[in-house]
Amino acid sequence: MLDMDPVRNPYAPGAGQRPPELAGRDGELSAFDVVLERIAHGRPERSLVLTGLRGVGKTVLLNQLRSAAIGRGWGTGKIEARPDQSLRRPVSSALHMALRELRHPDQESMDAVLGVLKAFALRQAESSSHPPRVRDRWQPGIDVAASSGRADSGDMEIDLVELLSDAAGLAADVGRGVALFIDEMQDVPGDDVSAICAACHELSQQGAPLIVVGAGLPHLPAVLSASKSYSERLFRYLRIDRLDRPAADRALLAPAEREEVTFEPEALDALYAAADGYPYFVQAYGKVTWDVAASSPITAADVAVAAPVAEAELAVGFFGSRYDRATPAEREYMHAMAELGGPAGAAVSTSEVAVSLGRKPASLSPARDSLIKKGLVYSAERGQIAFTVPHFGRYLLSHPSE
Ligand SMILES: Nc1ncnc2c1ncn2[C@@H]1O[C@H](COP(=O)(O)OP(=O)(O)OP(=O)(O)O)[C@@H](O)[C@H]1O
Ligand SMILES: [Mg+2]
Repeated sequence: MLDMDPVRNPYAPGAGQRPPELAGRDGELSAFDVVLERIAHGRPERSLVLTGLRGVGKTVLLNQLRSAAIGRGWGTGKIEARPDQSLRRPVSSALHMALRELRHPDQESMDAVLGVLKAFALRQAESSSHPPRVRDRWQPGIDVAASSGRADSGDMEIDLVELLSDAAGLAADVGRGVALFIDEMQDVPGDDVSAICAACHELSQQGAPLIVVGAGLPHLPAVLSASKSYSERLFRYLRIDRLDRPAADRALLAPAEREEVTFEPEALDALYAAADGYPYFVQAYGKVTWDVAASSPITAADVAVAAPVAEAELAVGFFGSRYDRATPAEREYMHAMAELGGPAGAAVSTSEVAVSLGRKPASLSPARDSLIKKGLVYSAERGQIAFTVPHFGRYLLSHPSE
C-alpha cells in the first residue's frame, strides 16, 4: 500500500499537453522515420498529414514528429493556422527557426537565404491596400537586409516555391532536410492551401529535401483535394484515432508505474468504458481517479467515485467551452444533430436536420458553415455532417437547451 501523492499525479489533460506516455503511435512514428530517411537521400516520398477528431492527439503527435526531425539534425518550424490569417508571417517565422536549427557552416550562403526570407516576410504589409498602421509595422527579427527579386512577387505560390527551394538548398548542402509542420491545417485560407500544395509538388519534383507535415480535422483531405486535385498523391493521410484497449491501458499504467502506483484490472475496465479510448478523456479520467484514490492499487471503486467528477470537469472545460462559442441558431442546429445521431454521435444528413427543424435546407447553410468554420462540426461526405468533438452528441443530449 502506498499513499497517493497529488503532486506526483502524472496525467496531463489539456490541448497539446505532452502526455506522460505517448501510447499507440509507434506505427506513425516509424512511418515518419522512413519518410525522413528517404527524403534526406533525395528519394521521392509523400509527406504525412494527420487527421482526426478533437482531442485524439494530433498536436502532440505532430510535436513528436518534429522532435524526430530535430533528432536527425533537420531544420524545423511549426505553424498553427487560423481562419482568415495569411500564412506569410507564420511561414516566415517557422522557416526562420528552421534555418537557424540547420546551422549551415557557411555564413554567406545562410545570409543569402535569410535575405530572401526577409523579403518574403515583408511583402505582405506592402501589398495591403491600407497604409501600414503602427501595429502593422511588423519586423521579422532577421538580421540581414532584405534581398530583392526573389520570393517577393506578392504571389504566394511563386514566392513559396522560391523561398522553400532556397531553404531546401541549404539543407541539401549539409545532407539534411527542412520540415515545416502545420497544425489546424484545415484553417489555412484557400489561396494559401493551394500555394502550399503547389510548392510541395514542385519541390518534390526537384527532389528537394523539404516536407510539409500537416495535422487537422477529418475533412482536411477534402479541403486539400478541393484545392489541388493532385494532393492525394502529395500527402499520405494518417487517420489518428482512439487508442485501442492495450494502448489506453499503457497510457495509464506506464506513467503510474514510474511512480510505483498500479491499477486493478477492474479499474482499467471501468476507465476504458468511461474514456472510450479517446486520449483527452484517458488523461482527464486518469487524473481525477489518481486524486480520488487513497492508495495503490487503484480500484474500480475509486473510478466509480472519480468518474462523475471527471465528467463534470469535461462538461465545463472540454464540451462547455466549445458549446459557448456557438450562437443560438448554431446551438439549435447542433441539438438537432444530436437528436438524429444519437448518443454514439453518428454522422447525419443535412437534409434530415432541416426536416427535423422544420426549415428549408438553404436557410440553415449559414449556421452549418459557421459551425464548420468554428471547428465544431465537419462534413464527412457530401450532404453529411458530424461533430468534430468526440462524445459531443452525448453531451448535448444530457444538457438539453434551455
Ligand atoms: N498517444 C497518446 N497517449 C496518451 N495520451 C495522449 C496521446 N495523444 C494525446 N494524448 C493526450 O490527449 C490530449 C489531447 O491531445 P492533443 O491536444 O494533441 O489532441 P488534438 O488531436 O490536437 O486535439 P485538437 O483537435 O483539439 O487540437 C492531451 O491531454 C494529450 O496529453
Ligand atoms: Mg491540436
